[in-house]
Amino acid sequence: NEGALWGGRFDGGPADALAALSKSTHFDWRLAVYDIAGSRAHARVLHRAGLLDDVELAGMLAALDVLDADVRSGAYTPAESDEDVHGSLERGLIERAGIQLGGKLRAGRSRNDQVATLGRMYLRDHARIVAGGVLATIEALVQQAEDHLRVPMPGRTHLQHAQPVLLSHHLLAHAWALLRDVQRLQDWDKRAAVSPYGSGALAGSSLGLDPQAVAAELGFASATHNSIDGTAARDVYAEFAWIASMIGVDLSRISEEVILWATKEFSFVTLHDSYSTGSSIMPQKKNPDVAELARGKAGRLIGNLTGLLATLKGLPLAYNRDLQEDKEPVFDATDTLEVLLPAVSGMIATLTFNTERMASLAPQGFALATDIAEWLVRQGVPFREAHELSGAAVRVAEGRGVELWDLSDADYASISPHLTPDVREVLTVEGSLNSRDSQGGTAPAAVERQLEALRDELAGV
Ligand code: ARG
Repeated sequence: NEGALWGGRFDGGPADALAALSKSTHFDWRLAVYDIAGSRAHARVLHRAGLLDDVELAGMLAALDVLDADVRSGAYTPAESDEDVHGSLERGLIERAGIQLGGKLRAGRSRNDQVATLGRMYLRDHARIVAGGVLATIEALVQQAEDHLRVPMPGRTHLQHAQPVLLSHHLLAHAWALLRDVQRLQDWDKRAAVSPYGSGALAGSSLGLDPQAVAAELGFASATHNSIDGTAARDVYAEFAWIASMIGVDLSRISEEVILWATKEFSFVTLHDSYSTGSSIMPQKKNPDVAELARGKAGRLIGNLTGLLATLKGLPLAYNRDLQEDKEPVFDATDTLEVLLPAVSGMIATLTFNTERMASLAPQGFALATDIAEWLVRQGVPFREAHELSGAAVRVAEGRGVELWDLSDADYASISPHLTPDVREVLTVEGSLNSRDSQGGTAPAAVERQLEALRDELAGV
């Protein structure tokens, strides 16, 4: 078997069933260009260690360039007999450089340190793409917030009307969560920027190779200080999978609201035609499939994380073949987010809000009861009593099937002499909103300051 990287001590080739099980080229081929970049860097440290002469280095780099071009153009693809991307590319190199020269590259490296390094390179590149998609989603939320800066809506807890809030405040709550996800990706990159190349199979190399030089050439900040850790650790992958899950969950929570808001009962939003789907049988249907797929894919992203953690749990040090299972979950995570984020950001950017309906519902369901209680506190009534008095007003209004502002001055006076006609100053949405002007509050002035703070943080990422 020409493509095999091992075989010297074996009598014959592997059983077909083993070869089929062992094979990973159908998913690890996406590491090919990173593998070749690693090979270039490795060839240079072999040269510096005196293991390749000048002519050999030039020949090796030229052959790697041809192989790189052939991989990128699709002219070179893995053969049926190739076990993994690393073995296949060695075969491709030997085809281009000859067995004499091509056979020299593997000295001092192992697929174990290679694969650990290449996965980090792949994830670091894709983390940037994912972060760009999250930033575009934040931008869509911020734009909608700015366009609807002073639109009131019902703020909810337990999905029940709680207190009026501004739509902009609500949208920016999602933006802050997503901004933290971007910051997480950036923070994660510090831990991902350590190269395991040079760890060898598990114990390092005896050939005088320089892991720092390889690390620098491959864009890493440093090389690992422990070859066992370098080849066996996958916490960087798991952390990436967790951040990807968190992004999925954050998108799912936005999506759940869009789904609710688009119902007849809520009628808060209309989805743009280009971000909704129809039904094959019901002609009237306009479905929020983007949001539903986002909600569904959050489950898939969480599955990737838990699957990876289950693979890692119980693995003794150092490399074990179980670790071949580390790649598909994180590849699927980047694939999923890269297709999901543009759809979600487009859906948000093109939402139309039914601002009149949102505003008219904002104070309903006794959502101003807290304002009455806090007004009483400002009149010197202890909150405990204020809460009771406001609750009594709710009971009266609810019994009559009216809202708090429908009660007469006499109704209020009969509940408590503290409830003078002046209480009406807080019985409007505007009064309620304007009063919540401390940092982080929903008052228009506070939300404007919030927007500035968010813009500042966004400029820093
Ligand atoms: N394809 C393997 C992986 O993805 C790398 C090969 C290491 N195999 C080995 N037998 N040491 O983890």
